[in-house]
Amino acid sequence: MTNDKHLIFLSFFLAFILIVACRQAPKNSQYISQKVATSDKAMVVAAHPLAVKVGLDILAQGGNAIDAIVGVQFALAVVYPRAGNIGGGGFMLYDEKGKQTTALDFREKAPFGATKNMYLDSLGNPITGLSTKGALASGVPGSVDGLLQALEKYGKLKDRQLVMQGAIDLASNGFAISQNEADRLNKYASDFKTLNNFDFPFVKDGDWKKGDLLKQSLLAKTLQKIQDEGRKGFYEGDCAAAIIQTMADNKGIIVQRDLTRYQAKWKTPIQFSFRGYDISSMPLPSSGGIVLQQILKILEPLPLDSLGFQTAESIHLISEAERSAYENRATYLGDSDFYNVPVELLLSEEYITSMRDGIDREKAQKSNAETVAPSQTLESFQTTHTSIIDEQGNSASLTTTLNSNYGSKLYVREAGFFLNNEMDDFSVKPGVPNTYGLIGAKANEIAPEKRMLSSMTPTIVKKDGEPYLVLGAPGGSTIITAVLQVLLNKTVYGQNLEEAVNACRTHHQWLPDRILLEEGCLSVEARNALKAKGHQLEETKYMAIIKAIHRDADGRLTGVGDPRNPDDHAQGL
Ligand code: GLY
Repeated sequence: MTNDKHLIFLSFFLAFILIVACRQAPKNSQYISQKVATSDKAMVVAAHPLAVKVGLDILAQGGNAIDAIVGVQFALAVVYPRAGNIGGGGFMLYDEKGKQTTALDFREKAPFGATKNMYLDSLGNPITGLSTKGALASGVPGSVDGLLQALEKYGKLKDRQLVMQGAIDLASNGFAISQNEADRLNKYASDFKTLNNFDFPFVKDGDWKKGDLLKQSLLAKTLQKIQDEGRKGFYEGDCAAAIIQTMADNKGIIVQRDLTRYQAKWKTPIQFSFRGYDISSMPLPSSGGIVLQQILKILEPLPLDSLGFQTAESIHLISEAERSAYENRATYLGDSDFYNVPVELLLSEEYITSMRDGIDREKAQKSNAETVAPSQTLESFQTTHTSIIDEQGNSASLTTTLNSNYGSKLYVREAGFFLNNEMDDFSVKPGVPNTYGLIGAKANEIAPEKRMLSSMTPTIVKKDGEPYLVLGAPGGSTIITAVLQVLLNKTVYGQNLEEAVNACRTHHQWLPDRILLEEGCLSVEARNALKAKGHQLEETKYMAIIKAIHRDADGRLTGVGDPRNPDDHAQGL
């Protein structure tokens, strides 16, 4: 080749490389996750930098914490599809500056066609996988109604055009996936293919890699419909028809009447004080608030401070309080619109004193139940949480889920999203553990239109009337104890927020009867002393992924995402 020909060839080659690179890497590919941020104005912490950016853009255009959190949730449905969703449900706590804190329940509900024994065979034994994979595993989705109700009631701009456009753009233009997302997609590739007999954006030939473009055109269309028509765009028309078709094709039971009747519910939070802090958390059908209150109130007068951080003595007391509260969870808690849960009694001073008095300082109790609960391998990251404080001092704390990663793995073909597998959070049979090893009783048995018991614990803590901490996490049954430990680390052990979130965690949930520890957590001496008290110890890689914001006395905000999720991101305005 002559020099000229060389140059022409080289130019064509470089142009080709550039075109390929541009096609694989949309403008939004330049994101780096940041775990700690500070700001004097506003803060967003969520599970993906692109979703955080959507929230910050809304705040910058004059939106409040609700406008922003709704935008972040729709964006997470695109960029964090294992848990962000429109096919699932969740809970939100909102503290409007100077007003009462309120709670929103947009948990999925059982379809009309659901029955108490729907996951049991003719001998009364659970059929493996029926409550976790495929159409029968799905509850009626609540996210869209919940987010739109929140926007309508408490948004400042209340503008669907504005808050949803970020998500629509991400779905239609695509985004470059992270290593974390690529790993998850590869892990579930065979489930996606087995459960969905068609091509869709989550299946491809070969493995997913960091930087691959994920475009979701049908999801963009559905989001556009919701943007244009509100809840009708999801619960009626083409999207509803696509859900019902998916059900019909897969022996599912959700019908139009289920979708039409779905309504999110506004509720009074669980509220209590702990050593001078005012805590608001989620009421039933989440167990989060009640269990958190029981544990903290048991611990309040105990000398955790002088016993020391993560000593055998303090972990013993915390674990015994957890054991007792999780036994209550299994025995008494369920959807209080369907079952008479003795909430007042469970939270009364006398009752909590009796729980505290039942703790032996020297010896572990035994968790006894007629149960077939085996040790469970916890599957983390499957839910997701967002914390926001805006410039006016309003705080929003929202946890949402499909339950397992990508929910039931069943994809609504024509509408572009995964359906949840939340039905597994019901007690399918007394004494039989769910995905998280949690067992339940009559209070949480299945009934038409009932909501399944949850552990999601979106929480807002105030001090002297001002927001102090906004936090929550994914992590199934370990959510409550993770929120608890971050609270104790801040309020009892005086750690800064980053230390409080990063510190390793322990967890006891009554059954299985053991303390679960993150790998390497606690000294050898502490472990031996706990064993000497009669505790079984079991290690797991990690538990729950906290996203938290702390506001100091001067109004400065620190946001912290959890290093346990590589994609967690904190950023201030
Ligand atoms: N699906 C997990 C929970 O709600 O606790």
